Amino acid sequence: MATATTGYTARTFSHLKGLKGISDAQLEEHFKLYAGYVNNTNTLNQKVEELTKAGKSGTPEYGELKRRYGFEYCGMVLHEYYFDNMTPGGMAIDQNSKLYKKICECFWDWNTFETDFKNVGKMRGIGWAILFQDPTTKKLSNHFVADHEIGNIPGYKPILVMDVWEHAYIGDYKATERGKYIDAFWGNVCWKTAASRLLD
Ligand SMILES: [Fe+2]
Repeated sequence: MATATTGYTARTFSHLKGLKGISDAQLEEHFKLYAGYVNNTNTLNQKVEELTKAGKSGTPEYGELKRRYGFEYCGMVLHEYYFDNMTPGGMAIDQNSKLYKKICECFWDWNTFETDFKNVGKMRGIGWAILFQDPTTKKLSNHFVADHEIGNIPGYKPILVMDVWEHAYIGDYKATERGKYIDAFWGNVCWKTAASRLLD
């Protein structure tokens, strides 16, 4: 990403063509939504700077722009984590990796972790299922983040990120078929990328 002073730039994710169970057409629509978050983050930064410089930081307009920032910025960043942690057909977890061992330590075994992550993804509401690492204890835990910013924990490191907004799958599945989409996502997870995010 570019620096905030010059504005963020929407990335491309050409490596995602040919995902299993998530069509290229679905992804193309999703990329457009992602670009919207990048553009809106830039617009918010620009408008806030203008109002601050003009001495209008105490105005309702300024306050509303500030309130929107977490939504737009987290929308941008979480989509990048999500697109980055997929690859067509997936890349299996290395059972000798630190991530595999840490998951089995924190969730008792792999299947318990997988079930928990998927069930978090099936929680009602729009948002994200995220496997986070606590930077202090190094423990892993699954969380539901509503919208893009509600439930995000400051400092926690995203290890695996799954979009469960309906816009992530409505091109391929019915609104009632989130579980099928989650299974498709699971089959495309690039565990090598997820493992590279581990803090320790
Ligand atoms: Fe999304």
